[in-house]
Amino acid sequence: MTDTQVGKLIAVRGELLFLIIDLITVFIWYMGGIFVINNLIKLGILVAFVNYILYIYGPLQTFERFFRDIPEALVSAERILELLEDKPKILNKENAKKPNMLDEIKFVNVTFGYEPGFPVLKNISFTIKPKEKVAIVGKNGAGKTTIAKLLLRFYDVNDGEILIGNINIKDIDLTYLREKISYLSQEPEIFNNTIRYNISYGNQNVNEIEIIRVCKIVNIHDDIVKLPFAYDTPAGEGGSKLSEGQRQKISIARNLIKNPDIFIFDELTSNIDSKSREQIFSSILNISKDKTLIYISHNLSEVLNMDRVIVVEDGRIIEEGKPDELIKKKGKFYELFKNQIENMEKIENINQKSELVNLNIIKDKNIIIEPTNRPSRVNVIYNGTKYENLMPKLLFPISNPKFVGFYDDNFNEIFLLEDYTILDENSKKILENAIKYNSIIYKIEKIKKINIEGGSILLNALMNNKELEIKIISPENLFIFEDKILFIDENDNLYQIILKDLDKRSLKELNKIV
Ligand SMILES: Nc1ncnc2c1ncn2[C@@H]1O[C@H](COP(=O)(O)OP(=O)(O)OP(=O)(O)O)[C@@H](O)[C@H]1O
Ligand SMILES: [Mg+2]
Repeated sequence: MTDTQVGKLIAVRGELLFLIIDLITVFIWYMGGIFVINNLIKLGILVAFVNYILYIYGPLQTFERFFRDIPEALVSAERILELLEDKPKILNKENAKKPNMLDEIKFVNVTFGYEPGFPVLKNISFTIKPKEKVAIVGKNGAGKTTIAKLLLRFYDVNDGEILIGNINIKDIDLTYLREKISYLSQEPEIFNNTIRYNISYGNQNVNEIEIIRVCKIVNIHDDIVKLPFAYDTPAGEGGSKLSEGQRQKISIARNLIKNPDIFIFDELTSNIDSKSREQIFSSILNISKDKTLIYISHNLSEVLNMDRVIVVEDGRIIEEGKPDELIKKKGKFYELFKNQIENMEKIENINQKSELVNLNIIKDKNIIIEPTNRPSRVNVIYNGTKYENLMPKLLFPISNPKFVGFYDDNFNEIFLLEDYTILDENSKKILENAIKYNSIIYKIEKIKKINIEGGSILLNALMNNKELEIKIISPENLFIFEDKILFIDENDNLYQIILKDLDKRSLKELNKIV
């Protein structure tokens, strides 16, 4: 039995006790009344008797409350003990500062261990200049990730201090600190929600254009637009519907959208194909041009692109310098990368060409849509030019079904149209028709029955006069709007229910889930 169950039982027993006492009191008044009428006792004695019973009543009430509150008191005591046992919390100081973060980062004699008596970083000191690109290298377990975590203040140092622009990070506003430092961890976190949600996580007000821009920077936009619901496609549990490289690209995109001053990249996964890796790496160099970059890596050719290298071994800094100088020196760095250095024919700088991200956004309504002989394609006339046979596709079919992308037959993006509903009636109609072919959304006509089983929803519905059973695996795949409901079934099909078209019975069933 749980504490709350015990509490409830005691409470019920208490309630019963009072009912019995109340009944006894009524009984005494009744019998006493008869006795008084028949002159067997005096009225005063009866009143005194009832008063005595009420005297007992009071303490009993306290007694009952005491027992009822025991479980709660136990839980509170447990919490207090927990608090006492806990290590000091990372606290945000009152009047914490928000300094310029594009300033010098300094570790001064920093010592830190996760467990008392076992230091992981031992008296470490180093400085990173504003906008400098620094690689941190070293064997597994050397302490590289720990350095990153301390800079983000996931832990406080045991000794020494960490300064940004000569301000101790303990004096910097914690939220601000973590906003201004973007950290791509070794294990990117992907939430069981749409790709859009995953990219804008922590910045829910970013708009579609910003989302697309960062996804183009990390080279994942083209992959996303090919998915059935483009940016509104669910990523699956832990990102299970994405490849490891895609997961990492999405978490890089999430970091970019924050527009931080300091980037920390902790090890790009080795499970990305070399072309993607090169793409990601060159976009990292691009976007961090005017930022400070801390790059933790085991990849020589990437490390060679940094201004400086810090070599960590067993929690200490054992070598520091420009990468080419360290190779010539044949010291610890050389030893660490020996295999890769020997296999390298020539030291090659990764292609740093800065491809400007090109977004062709149309915001005005001076665009004319014409039909073609292919129902899924349209011609677009804009700025005096005619673009033929373009495929329109909703890039945010659930979260913003007004936003359309136009693609040629090779899936090259020609335009992004922010809001197609502002177009003239005729263009709008033609466009909607073609969209239907490219972003198929099934329309539910009637709902016969809805069953909720565990976390999933079973829907017995009518579509094109055919009955079908639809399974929605989690309420997260259900999107409720004012005038319609959209949902994704277990096979990733997208459905919509237009509320004004539903009969009363269907609406009543729908009430079970809305
Ligand atoms: N949360 C933790 N609790 C206790 N010990 C930890 C924790 N995280 C790391 N350590 C220990 O701290 C040491 C340094 O770990 P760290 O993650 O900083 O290494 P690293 O240099 O990033 O290694 P890798 O190249 O494998 O990522 C290791 O010995 C590790 O076992
Ligand atoms: Mg690490």
